[in-house]
Amino acid sequence: MTATQPTTSITLGERLVKRMGYGAMQLAGPGVFGPPKDHDGALAVLRAAIAAGVNHIDTSDFYGPFVTNHLIREALAPYPQDLVIVTKVGARRGDDASWLRADSPEELTDAVHSNLRNLGVDVLDVVNMRAWGNMHSPDESSIEAPFSTLAKLQQQGLIRHLGVSNVSAAQVAEAQGIAPVVCVQNHYNLVHRADDALIDQLAGQGIAYVPFFPLGGFSPVQSQTLNDVASELAATPMQVALAWLLQRAPNILLIPGTSSVAHLQQNLAAQDVVLSPEQVSRLNSL
Ligand SMILES: NC(=O)c1ccc[n+]([C@@H]2O[C@H](COP(=O)([O-])OP(=O)(O)OC[C@H]3O[C@@H](n4cnc5c(N)ncnc54)[C@H](OP(=O)(O)O)[C@@H]3O)[C@@H](O)[C@H]2O)c1
Repeated sequence: MTATQPTTSITLGERLVKRMGYGAMQLAGPGVFGPPKDHDGALAVLRAAIAAGVNHIDTSDFYGPFVTNHLIREALAPYPQDLVIVTKVGARRGDDASWLRADSPEELTDAVHSNLRNLGVDVLDVVNMRAWGNMHSPDESSIEAPFSTLAKLQQQGLIRHLGVSNVSAAQVAEAQGIAPVVCVQNHYNLVHRADDALIDQLAGQGIAYVPFFPLGGFSPVQSQTLNDVASELAATPMQVALAWLLQRAPNILLIPGTSSVAHLQQNLAAQDVVLSPEQVSRLNSL
């Protein structure tokens, strides 16, 4: 047993969600651009996630663009009562698949309305303000202007809860000075641990921390230690990477991404993988 044995659900906004959720980004075409290679296969992944009890899905209009939101709507609407869909704004896609900053008041307002339309809902459960930073790590620029725009859209009743993504501790504090923050979504996994202090700080405040690239992203983490621990537990290396995140802190919610039902099922089963303190300490030293 580890020191932090995970509970299965934690609060996100006013809703209880399972700690093992699903990230929909991998459902779009190559480079997160265009339609999936296998449309029906993508619908099957979403439906299998819900059938297995997942009630937290992460998405954005800029995956595709619009592709993952359309797939989510096609596969799952009318949505289960307990499903929390988290989307994000702050970027858009160029015609050449580039990722472009889009956080002016007009762009953010359009993005919120576009997410509402594409998901087919009247209110967005949670919207993350995705700060631009250095693509996958934050900078210290102010997020006051874009986050204030989202706070106004929340006051208009278009958004239930707000989160922030790709942010530093100072940027989280800046956002909290404007409106409550229910989740922080940053790059974090076994081998990318810049947020260790931030995770503990947010745990103390009861705020969910949602690592993006929990498996390492487009090139999942590879390590002999991970393989060794996996074989000791008759688990897969990816299951061990997820189990390590679950034991890391009680406020961590997982959204591993996959385009495969088999991988989805393996990832969900990671919640049953129990790491010993000795295995955790070997993994910590990666
Ligand atoms: N806020 C942000 O800026 C931001 C940035 C990136 C991502 N996100 C969100 O975070 C979610 C998770 O990140 P991610 O999907 O990019 O990366 P990830 O979850 O770390 O890894 C996804 C990769 O791992 C593979 N994979 C998944 N399960 C596997 C398994 N059991 N065995 C072997 N390979 C497996 C997937 O390929 P297969 O499809 O073949 O399984 C895919 O290549 C995204 O879906 C998205 O919702 C947010």
